[in-house]
Amino acid sequence: MTALDARPATTTLRFPTGFRWGTATAAYQIEGAASEDGRTPSIWDTFSRTPGRVRNGDTGDVAADHYHRVSEDIGLMRRLGVTDYRFSIAWPRVQPTGRGPAVQKGLDFYRRLVDELLEAGIRPVATLYHWDLPQELEDAGGWPERDTAYRFGEYAAIMAEALGDRVATWTTLNEPWCAAFLGYGNGEHAPGRTSAIASLRAAHHFNLAHGLAVGQLRGTAPAAEISLTLNLHAVRPRSNAPEDLDAARRIDAVGNRIFLDPVFRGRLPEDLIHDTAPVTDWSFVLDGDLDVTAAPIDSLGINYYSPTVVAAASPSSSPSSSSSPSSPWAGAEGHVSFLPAPGPRTAMNWPVDAGGLYELLVRLRDDLPGVPLLITENGAAYDDYADPSGAVKDPERVEYLHAHLTAVHRALADGADVRGYFLWSLLDNFEWAYGYSKRFGIVHVDFATQRRTLKDSARWYADIIARGGLPA
Ligand code: NOJ
Repeated sequence: MTALDARPATTTLRFPTGFRWGTATAAYQIEGAASEDGRTPSIWDTFSRTPGRVRNGDTGDVAADHYHRVSEDIGLMRRLGVTDYRFSIAWPRVQPTGRGPAVQKGLDFYRRLVDELLEAGIRPVATLYHWDLPQELEDAGGWPERDTAYRFGEYAAIMAEALGDRVATWTTLNEPWCAAFLGYGNGEHAPGRTSAIASLRAAHHFNLAHGLAVGQLRGTAPAAEISLTLNLHAVRPRSNAPEDLDAARRIDAVGNRIFLDPVFRGRLPEDLIHDTAPVTDWSFVLDGDLDVTAAPIDSLGINYYSPTVVAAASPSSSPSSSSSPSSPWAGAEGHVSFLPAPGPRTAMNWPVDAGGLYELLVRLRDDLPGVPLLITENGAAYDDYADPSGAVKDPERVEYLHAHLTAVHRALADGADVRGYFLWSLLDNFEWAYGYSKRFGIVHVDFATQRRTLKDSARWYADIIARGGLPA
């Protein structure tokens, strides 16, 4: 009897044998222990301690206290039956100033995490950068400066040396679009800068940093899978009118191809260079950079939450809005209107639309043939609470996850090479500018006591994993 035969007969949408079922987290969002064992501030410590930046003045100082609860949290994952766990390494924990030798205690923490995962039979998937740049590197100019990419290459070398023999999959960067454009373009994320040119420079230096890290990882951990996680925008034009299609093209250029083309084709999109000419001539891209960015990788990680619907900007919108510091689009927004997608919404006010995930996966099937795909994040925030019996009922999240996994299954059936799905998130956590007000976990965290409670969605996910697919 094969593993498939052993699954309950009611499973109707089966996923391939060997499909990776995971959960995902990020260091700053869960670890806490912000000043322990030599860790120094990252840009998110500084930003969250600046009044007015994060809702309720929340910080990651304690977060879900994962630093002290690693074993308990791995125990939760064992109960869920996940095959993989995607976590991130806090750069300022292992290399506090972003330069020089590593701090032993920082390395020890991640060694222990990885070893305990392996003992539990869970594959470690490590992200090197999930937005917590050491503050000292930001003080030296941050991602708009080329030197930051070189520093990242050195940090990657340290981690490859420390964990290269035990980590199955390395993700260099998480969502460089958010880090570049929300961090340096509209200031919604750390470090809170508002400069279109800084965001474009940062985007290029992220691509360069990625390529440099790939080189280090490949050299030290040749057997590991090397990946990059992008939050690709599932861009939908409002209509097929040429102006609306052009609006979608602009957002696709500055939202997606700005990373996809340097990494997978070794070039910058011509239309991006043209669209951004009022902001920059891209002279910060040096000879040879695009060979570095194009170092071959083994898979692409995709984080998907909702689609982006666009139209040509209405004539009434002011062209001066293109230089508005509150826009992350480096000038594209002067030509584009963002429209609300119809349908139900999550607590983030993001539309629930699994069709966008399907569209993205079949596009990547066509655009990047031969590149295996991982859904490195998908999930939803809802206003969850423990009821008097202690249960946390989250039927909307189950519905959201069911719809999105159905979309993944459909894409698989249509030939998209999707190898795994990582649910965001294992735990309720620090949701960046929203602080603790938004709960993405399938495990509820009472932040006053740090008590963890499986939500109904966690039990549901455990059942899906055990079946290897979705029930009817
Ligand atoms: C993507 C980010 O990688 C993650 O850190 C964040 O919490 C989720 N999106 C939800 O916003």
